[in-house]
Amino acid sequence: MAKNNDEIRNEIEALREKIERYDYEYHVLDDPSISDVEYDKLLNRLIELEEAHPEFKREDSPTMRVGGEVLEGFKKVDHDIPMLSLGNAFGAEDLRSFDKRLRKAVDDFTYMVEAKIDGLAASLKYENGRLVRAATRGNGTTGEDITHNVRTIKSVPLKLKDDATLEVRGEIFMPKASFVKLNEARNESGESTFKNPRNAAAGTIRQLDSKVAARRDLDMFVYSLSEADSEASMTHEAALGYLKKLGFKTNPESVKASTIEDVISHAERIETQRHEYPYDIDGVVVKVNERALYETIGYTAKSPKWAIAYKFTAEEVVSTIKDIFFQVGRTGQVTPVAVMEPVEIAGSTVSRATLHNEKYVKDKDIRINDAVNVKKAGDIIPEVVSVIKENRTGDEKPFEMIASCPKCDTTLKRSDSDLEHFCPNPECPAKRLETMIHFASREAMNIEGLGTKIMELFYNEGYLKTIPDIYRLHEHKDALMARSGFGKKSIEKLLGNIEKSKTNSLENVLFGLGIRYVGQKVSKVLAMHFKEMFAIVEAREDDLVRLEDIGTKIAQSVVGYFSDDKNVRTVEALRDLGVNMRYKGKVLTEGVFSGKTVVLTGTLSSMSRKEAKERIERLGGKVTSAVSKNTDYVCAGTDPGSKVQKAQDLGVEIIDEDKLLDLLDE
Ligand code: IVH
Repeated sequence: MAKNNDEIRNEIEALREKIERYDYEYHVLDDPSISDVEYDKLLNRLIELEEAHPEFKREDSPTMRVGGEVLEGFKKVDHDIPMLSLGNAFGAEDLRSFDKRLRKAVDDFTYMVEAKIDGLAASLKYENGRLVRAATRGNGTTGEDITHNVRTIKSVPLKLKDDATLEVRGEIFMPKASFVKLNEARNESGESTFKNPRNAAAGTIRQLDSKVAARRDLDMFVYSLSEADSEASMTHEAALGYLKKLGFKTNPESVKASTIEDVISHAERIETQRHEYPYDIDGVVVKVNERALYETIGYTAKSPKWAIAYKFTAEEVVSTIKDIFFQVGRTGQVTPVAVMEPVEIAGSTVSRATLHNEKYVKDKDIRINDAVNVKKAGDIIPEVVSVIKENRTGDEKPFEMIASCPKCDTTLKRSDSDLEHFCPNPECPAKRLETMIHFASREAMNIEGLGTKIMELFYNEGYLKTIPDIYRLHEHKDALMARSGFGKKSIEKLLGNIEKSKTNSLENVLFGLGIRYVGQKVSKVLAMHFKEMFAIVEAREDDLVRLEDIGTKIAQSVVGYFSDDKNVRTVEALRDLGVNMRYKGKVLTEGVFSGKTVVLTGTLSSMSRKEAKERIERLGGKVTSAVSKNTDYVCAGTDPGSKVQKAQDLGVEIIDEDKLLDLLDE
C-alpha cells in the first residue's frame, strides 16, 4: 500500500538522521560503521523520496551534498568580525620575542600549538544549529558567499548537535592523495593540472556549479569559534573541545604548552613530521590559550597580537641568473631584479627574484650567469640567498648600478641611508602606474578586475594616467568594448566594480593614496579620528601627533603630502567624481574614558554590565574582561570575585559603582 504523506516525511527524516550519522563517522571520525554499498542505498532512497516529494526538500538535507546548485556569480559577504591574518615567526628566536612581547602586556597564560593547514580560510555561520552561510576570507572585510560549495564538504555539519547560533572559522583544504588523483584524471582528459593542493582547493571553491565541488573531495578543519563576548571566558582548548562536540572536524595536531620553550619543541617536532601528514601544512600556529586575554593583548590592523605563525624553514633551490633589470616602485625606489632560469620552489614556478639594492648585490657579488641558491623569503617573495662561486666559468658579468631611471631617464638620487636609489621625478610613468595599482589593490579600494596587467595596458593606451581617471574609465566604455581582447561582459563587470568602490569607507581611500608611512592601521586611526578626508587634508602636525600610534615621522609625511597642491587636487577630483570621503565604521567618541581600559566585575545595582559597557564605550573607553597591567580601572560591584585581588596585586585603581556613576556623569 502506498505510504501517506506523514509516513513519507517520517521515512525521510529517519533517513536523514542515519545518513548524517554515517557521514560524521566516515568523514569526521574516520571510523565508518557501514559499507559504502549500504550507504549508497540509503542516500539513493532519500534522493528518490525528495525528488518525488519536493515539498519535503530542505537546505540541510544530506542530499544537498551532491551539489546541483549553479550560481550566476558570487555574492559579496561582509564579515561581522574581520578575518585577520597572522604575523610570522621565522625560527625559535622570533617565538621568544613574541613571548617577551606578550609577557609585557599580560601574565599568567598558556599556549596552544597547532598545525597551520595550507588551504584557504572560510567562515561558517550557523543559526539555530543549521548552516546558513559560508564565506571566503576575501580581503578580510569582505569575502564571497560559497555556501553552495561548502555544503558539499562532507565533514562540514549541515546541522549541529545543538541548536547553537554561532560563527566558526577554519581552513578548507584538499588532502594530498585527492589532489594527486584529481591531477591524474585531469591529465588524462587533457585538462590543465593544478600546481598544488592549495590551488586545487581554491579553484574548486570558486566554482559556480556546486557539482564540481561535490566531485572533488574537499575537506575542512575548524580552528576557531568567533570571538563573541559570550564565549570569551573559554580557553581556546575548551573552544576546540566544544567545536568537536558540536560535530566539527578539528585538527588532531593541537597541543597545550605552558612555556615558550615547550612551544618551540612542539613546533620543531611538527616541522620534522610535516611530510607525514595527509594534507599540506606550511607552519605552526601558536596562540594564547586564554581567550579572555585577547582583547587586552589586542590587534594590529592585520593580525591579532595573541597569535603568531611559525613558518617552516624555506626550501632552497639552485638556478642561474640570466639577466638583471631594474624595477621602479610606487615610491620611486629602484630595485634590481634577477631574471632566472625558471625553477620550482615551495609549490610554484619562479623566474624572478628580488636583489633588494646595490649593496645587497655587491656584498654577495651576484653576477649575470652565476649559479645561485634561491628561496622564498617568508615563503612568498623569491630571493637570491647566495652565489655558488665554485661553478664560475669566467663568463659572468659583474653587476653595475644604473645612474638614471629606466623609465623616465631622470638622474637617480640616493636615500638618506644611502642604501636605496630613488627616481625623484614626480611625473615618472613607473611611479604613476604603481600608484594606481596600489589604489585599486585588495587592501585599498579592492577593485576586482583592475590588477597589474589591465592597469598596465590601460595606462599604455592612455585611458588611465592618474588615480581619478579610474572613475572616468566609463567614458571610454564603447572604445573599450570595441577593443579586441575584452568581452562586453567583462568591461561591464569591471566598470561595475569601479562604481561600487565609490562607497568604500574613508580609510580605504586614504590608504589607497599611498602616502609614505600611512599603512592600513594608520589610515584607520586617522579616518576614525577625523571622520572625513578634508579634515585630514587640513590637519597640522600637532593635531596629528596627539593621536595614538601617530609619531612625528608619520605626521610630517601626511602634512608634506597634502602641502603639495597636486595631491589635494587628486582628492578633490575623487570627491567630485563621487568617491565617498567619510568614515563609515563605528565612531569612538572622545570623553572622560578616552584611551582608558576598564574591567567590570561583580553585580552593578543601577544598570546592567552591558549598559555600563555601552556607556563607557560611548565616552571613548574600552571594556575588557581580564585585568592586566594595561587596565586603568577595575569597577567592582557586589560579589566582585578574584579580579579585585588581581587589580590590587598589579596596583590598578579600583573604583566602586558610585565612582563609576560620577565619572559617567562628568
Ligand atoms: S588562526 C586571526 N589557526 O593561516 C587569524 N589559522 O596566516 C586566526 N590557518 O588566514 C587564524 N591553520 O587561513 C589559525 N590552526 C590554524 C590555522 C590557520 C591555517 C590559516 C588561516 C589564516 C592564515 C593566517
